[in-house]
Amino acid sequence: MAASIFAAVPLSPPVAVFKLTADFREDSDSRKVNLGVGAYRTDEGQPWVLPVVKKVEQMIASDNSLNHEYLPILGLPEFRANASRIALGDDSPAIKENRVGSVQSLGGTGALRIGAEFLRRWYNGNNNTATPIYVSAPSWENHNSVFMDAGFKDIRTYHYWDAAKRGLDLQGLLGDMEHAPEFSIFILHACAHNPTGTDPTPEQWKQIATVMKRRSLFPFFDSAYQGFASGSLEKDAWAVRYFVSEGFELFCAQSFSKNFGLYNERVGNLTVVGKDADNVQRVLSQMEKIVRTTWSNPPSQGARIVATTLSSPQLFDEWKGNVKTMADRVLLMRSELRSRLEALGTPGTWNHITEQIGMFSFTGLNPKQVEYMVKEKHIYLMASGRINMCGLTTKNLDYVAKSIHEAVTKIQ
Ligand SMILES: Cc1ncc(COP(=O)(O)O)c(C=O)c1O
Repeated sequence: MAASIFAAVPLSPPVAVFKLTADFREDSDSRKVNLGVGAYRTDEGQPWVLPVVKKVEQMIASDNSLNHEYLPILGLPEFRANASRIALGDDSPAIKENRVGSVQSLGGTGALRIGAEFLRRWYNGNNNTATPIYVSAPSWENHNSVFMDAGFKDIRTYHYWDAAKRGLDLQGLLGDMEHAPEFSIFILHACAHNPTGTDPTPEQWKQIATVMKRRSLFPFFDSAYQGFASGSLEKDAWAVRYFVSEGFELFCAQSFSKNFGLYNERVGNLTVVGKDADNVQRVLSQMEKIVRTTWSNPPSQGARIVATTLSSPQLFDEWKGNVKTMADRVLLMRSELRSRLEALGTPGTWNHITEQIGMFSFTGLNPKQVEYMVKEKHIYLMASGRINMCGLTTKNLDYVAKSIHEAVTKIQ
């Protein structure tokens, strides 16, 4: 037998967050806690199907007018329009002026991928793979890979996290923007920055926008947690809406995985804001070509659930209530963890736990302390010290707080 034609293919290591979950599953220790997952969990540690989603799923199942015909290449029109509307706001001038378009995508990742592919083909020249792509340091690890796989050759980082201060390094960030080549692309987390949980304030966003406009930098927002961060859709979309009001042309990748709990339905949307209807039309026509050779046309179930919910005032209110339930639980876990660490007198300051927002928190634990947490305490978290607040429950809070205390006092 000849050797396999795949014999030279290197084995790629598993994706860190999935590896962590697999290790957690295999651990038989009864104290184990998974703070590494990228999804919402209830206080019982269970996944949550939003009640409004359950209701709409039943409506869809009993609606005999629906079928399984292909959707249009760009997706379900009512999904696309409503998704862009919640990103940009009901009274968005850009929507009124007919200079907003969108592409239904396979999750937020799909929106980033279609956007990246389009930019590589058509932005700043033609197939300009040398356009610098700036990703925050640190960031969701897929940002790098998505833009690299789209063909970009110059992926850089911009200052974001100040480890000493456990907060935003605004001066570093603005400095990187000042020095970036014109037309560079900046990936900006719209809210609930992953993994640090630290967002610019509105005043800081204004400074960022001023520099980006002066330096002709392109904002590509990634909005994966709208509503989840603060409990308010409006607050969490503030930055995107501000940039639009400042006249930027921009992309905004939206994910409905977290705020609808529709992780495996792969529901996303890429909102495109242009200078006028004609520009947007031309951009969409090229995006249509990209989608055609990528997934040809998108799946309908998740998009129908989101579209039905967003287009009915009553269901929309129910959804906002469900999102708030999730956001409030996260906020409660934040304050409970902080107060426990402070009561234990754990060395260091812990105000960052409540100041950070969204699902994730950068604890400040170093890799050795993380290793101690995993190996000795069976508490699973990312090597960066990032924890998912939803992994905390009223039952495991004391154990987690005491374990962090031990890790910080025993291991330097
Ligand atoms: C910052 C960020 N962007 C995008 C995504 C991707 O979301 P989706 O699962 O919808 O592809 C995530 C998911 O973890 C994320 O954290």
